Amino acid sequence: MSKTIIVSNRLPISIKKDEEGNLEYIPSSGGLATGLGSIYKKGNNLWLGWPGTFFTKEKNKEAVTENLHKENMAPVFLTEDDIHNFYEGFSNSTLWPLFHYFTQYVEYNPEFWESYVEVNRKFCEETLKYADESDVIWVHDYQLLLLPEMIREKLPNATIGFFNHIPFPSFEIFRSLPWRKQILNGMLGADLIGFHTYDDMRHFLSAVSRITGIDHSMGHLKSSNRIITVDALPMGIDYKKFSEAAISKETQKEVKQYYSYLNSQQLILSIDRLDYSKGIPQRLKAFDTYLERYADSREKVSLILLVVPSRDQVEHYAHLKEELDELVGRINGKYGTLNWTPVYYFYRSLPFSKLSALYCMADVALITPIRDGMNLVCKEYVASRLDRSGVLILSETAGSAKELADSILVNPNDHDQIVEAIHQALEMPEDEQDLHMSEMQDKLKRYDIHRWVDVFMERLIYTKEKQKELNARHLGGRASQLITNNYKNANKRLICLDYDGTLVGFHGDPQKAEPDEELLSIIEALTKDPNNSVVIISGRDKDTLEGWLGHFDLEFIAEHGVWFKEKGKEWAMADNLVQDWQEEILQILELYVDRTPGTFIEKKDYSLVWHYRKADTGFGDMRARELVSNLQYLTSNMDIQVLEGNKVIEVKNAGVNKGKAALKWLAKEEWEFITALGDDWTDEDTFHVMPDGAFTIKVGLTSSEARYNIKSYVEVRELLKSFIV
Ligand code: UDP
Ligand code: G6P
Repeated sequence: MSKTIIVSNRLPISIKKDEEGNLEYIPSSGGLATGLGSIYKKGNNLWLGWPGTFFTKEKNKEAVTENLHKENMAPVFLTEDDIHNFYEGFSNSTLWPLFHYFTQYVEYNPEFWESYVEVNRKFCEETLKYADESDVIWVHDYQLLLLPEMIREKLPNATIGFFNHIPFPSFEIFRSLPWRKQILNGMLGADLIGFHTYDDMRHFLSAVSRITGIDHSMGHLKSSNRIITVDALPMGIDYKKFSEAAISKETQKEVKQYYSYLNSQQLILSIDRLDYSKGIPQRLKAFDTYLERYADSREKVSLILLVVPSRDQVEHYAHLKEELDELVGRINGKYGTLNWTPVYYFYRSLPFSKLSALYCMADVALITPIRDGMNLVCKEYVASRLDRSGVLILSETAGSAKELADSILVNPNDHDQIVEAIHQALEMPEDEQDLHMSEMQDKLKRYDIHRWVDVFMERLIYTKEKQKELNARHLGGRASQLITNNYKNANKRLICLDYDGTLVGFHGDPQKAEPDEELLSIIEALTKDPNNSVVIISGRDKDTLEGWLGHFDLEFIAEHGVWFKEKGKEWAMADNLVQDWQEEILQILELYVDRTPGTFIEKKDYSLVWHYRKADTGFGDMRARELVSNLQYLTSNMDIQVLEGNKVIEVKNAGVNKGKAALKWLAKEEWEFITALGDDWTDEDTFHVMPDGAFTIKVGLTSSEARYNIKSYVEVRELLKSFIV
């Protein structure tokens, strides 16, 4: 039976050794562990990850493995070196600061990187012990960015999802990583790649396009052999768990106990792991100014600051701890009285009932991370407010800000804005609190963790189905054999071949895409067979085609049908073509070249082409859209057409296209075998005119009028070679 295997660096349970060496199993903190906690226990699902400490003795490892198996978990044991180089090193001293825009903290250390690769491989080996191709493998977070590709290599048809729980930075930041390409390729091993927000998704797609050259269409990437979906799916919380806990006996007992130590002051709550990305010092400083500026509030309000210990072996985390100790000491020393403590500071992890009690008691939650992938604490606070009182102050740079627009949104670097937000929150009338809180609760209740998991799984299955549809059309195995057999049994054969993207790959400079030895020998063998008529149907100019391939017994259609050359004849031109429009259009294209670095114009006899392959990706596409609409408007009463090719915009006489030109060849003979291959949409005109029995083949995994798809020009060459052996 198929199962879901969750793989993350940390298991939802961490094992701690006490002083006598006894093992203690405690829940892990952090959004990922708490978020998915309710999922993995179902059926025969499994969660694979690091148990949070290192073991040297085999006996201990066996005991831990056995205990974890009982709870649907399996350990990936890491050594002390792994923890230093992979966990504290590459994960938390390179990727974490880089992805959170703390570039000044990033360490670029090749030893860290090597360990990262090695540990990802360890995770892969462990996963393969449990997984097969019928399972759904769901990999999580920045510690395992290489894992999807590693699993894919071993299980090519597996269903693999990946979710990134932290921000994905803009290309300008991401590009500084020396291992950026390996990282992206690692992620692209997945079928579905999820992010919390649209901005993260957009940044990722832009990095993929600029670094690997793979473009997307509506969030679908076409890698060499698969469709990959990229989507923004904000993670929800276990809403029911928090709302039910709020009225539970355990929580209420804790509430009562806490109140017995407090006076009647209002409470502001701040909860985070110890992390510089959370903006805790800035928050304390704002509270300090608030007490300074609104002196009346002294003795009437306290801040409860819960900081959960985290990564304290990493230098910047240790410094942060010292800074917090000092700030809290300073504020309490400055304002505190015998009756009143301004900041209650806890540096520990609290059990669930105490956490729930704090959520219930807080009049205001002050959550102001400098950057946060999502932030679940703010959602947990909202879910715990059963009487719909309370105010959330939230940083606009937290992923959750997109969903919680009814909070008081602040810029976490704007000290004054936070001070005023605290004031506004503490003064907010009850009916206004109710209004905002119920809006937020409705959203979080509907889109909770279960819905999030379902949506992720639905998207994953949808992607797999899309892949299957394309695979069914993919020319491989039997279909390929069928074409080859038909070829071999036929005498009069017509073979129509597009050039760029079909017989050769793309090149930044089109003049450099000349045929190589392999292609020349394939064409030579094909044209030597007297039963073959091989026609190159290209958008290229006739002189280039003639120069590269003119010495073979080939026929040509050039400039998408403007020129043609039949066997033994001279080049001839299509009827009724005019050039008088070129001057005017050329001026427009030149303007676009001036405004768009990296673009250039190709002049053909009866067409003009604007090439933008070498322009900055997003920018080139944007200018292309603008140019097309500009041209369509300007040429509406002229007898010319605007064609969009692969990173080119071409303007030519109306009524000229590859299909119209190909008709001439179709009418020549009673062909016994016809095939047509092409990669871009100008080839769709060729496919369109082909008779039913023709073998039309689209190069690339996109939809097409052709009967079959083939992955790339490399496979085209394999097919043509199978004809000639
Ligand atoms: N949390 C916890 N123990 C505590 C305090 C908080 O386990 O003592 C949990 C909290 O309930 C939340 C998670 O830690 O689910 C923090 O997740 P968040 O997304 O806010 O931040 P992250 O730690 O993932 O950066
Ligand atoms: C964030 C990360 C998680 C991580 C958690 C706790 O939520 O996205 O992947 O597990 O912090 O960090 P830690 O280093 O203790 O696992």
